[in-house]
Amino acid sequence: VTNDQDLLTEDVFNNLRRFFFMKTGNSLSEKKRYLVLYRLAHLVGPDKEYKTYRDLCQRVHSDPDGPEAERLITLLTTHFSYFFREPDHFDFFREVLSRYGSRFHELRVWSAACSTGEEPYSLAITALDCLGAEAIRIKILGTDVSSEAIDKARKGIYNESAIEGKMETGRIHRWFDRDQAGKYRVKPEVRALVRLKEFNLLEPFPFNKRFHVIFLRNVLYYLGQDARADLMKKLTASLVDGGYLVLGHMDTVPVGVPGMSNRGGNIFKKL
Ligand SMILES: C[S@@+](CC[C@H](N)C(=O)[O-])C[C@H]1O[C@@H](n2cnc3c(N)ncnc32)[C@H](O)[C@@H]1O
Repeated sequence: VTNDQDLLTEDVFNNLRRFFFMKTGNSLSEKKRYLVLYRLAHLVGPDKEYKTYRDLCQRVHSDPDGPEAERLITLLTTHFSYFFREPDHFDFFREVLSRYGSRFHELRVWSAACSTGEEPYSLAITALDCLGAEAIRIKILGTDVSSEAIDKARKGIYNESAIEGKMETGRIHRWFDRDQAGKYRVKPEVRALVRLKEFNLLEPFPFNKRFHVIFLRNVLYYLGQDARADLMKKLTASLVDGGYLVLGHMDTVPVGVPGMSNRGGNIFKKL
């Protein structure tokens, strides 16, 4: 039997969708009601933190920049990621490193929606395997709107299933320590290349130096049309001339990004 309070009514669902969209640019279609229900279910019920979804919604609205709003954003964003996802992009990065790695005093790389850290650490591992000690000149910034995801990225601790089979065994031995519980921790040499920060891509970019390579993979997919177009402009402006923007394979962009040439594989070069 379903009680009224178990239900995520249409008006509350729409209200949460609007709030989430306003905060993150992520556009949830009407069909995603079940997803929202499922992701918030552990918070709502007779003996849970909120009696109803309406109570949760009201709490979030009463403090739209507070911790409850942050938690909602973490719960509604999709953080799925894994080490060396879309391997051709890491082959491309290795090419860039071998071509330019020794030419620059520092090479700035931004993993712009890095979730729980798999992407920036995979970039750091690629740099270390390619350049050895010289990799210290590769500065990797990882950012994400979800503070919880960033906390997890900072810890740099992953379950066996996130590591084993995701890269060669030699690589695992070189760049991870295994603890007694069987978990893997990214080694300090890898962490030394990566800085992690909470950052919402809808906000004005605060960087005073431009990037040589930006990875923005599997994010545009979740954003509405306007947020997508706006973000592409800001990203283009944040690249050095000749710099690269790498999008995820499932991300789509408007045909012809102004100021960029498409070199295939969803990789763009700033003209
Ligand atoms: C599916 S993960 C992609 C992770 C990684 N880039 C990859 O391809 O494996 C999408 C990430 O985008 C983040 N995200 C969504 N909207 C964002 C925004 N407005 N600003 C910053 N990050 C955002 C989410 O929190 C989530 O961690």
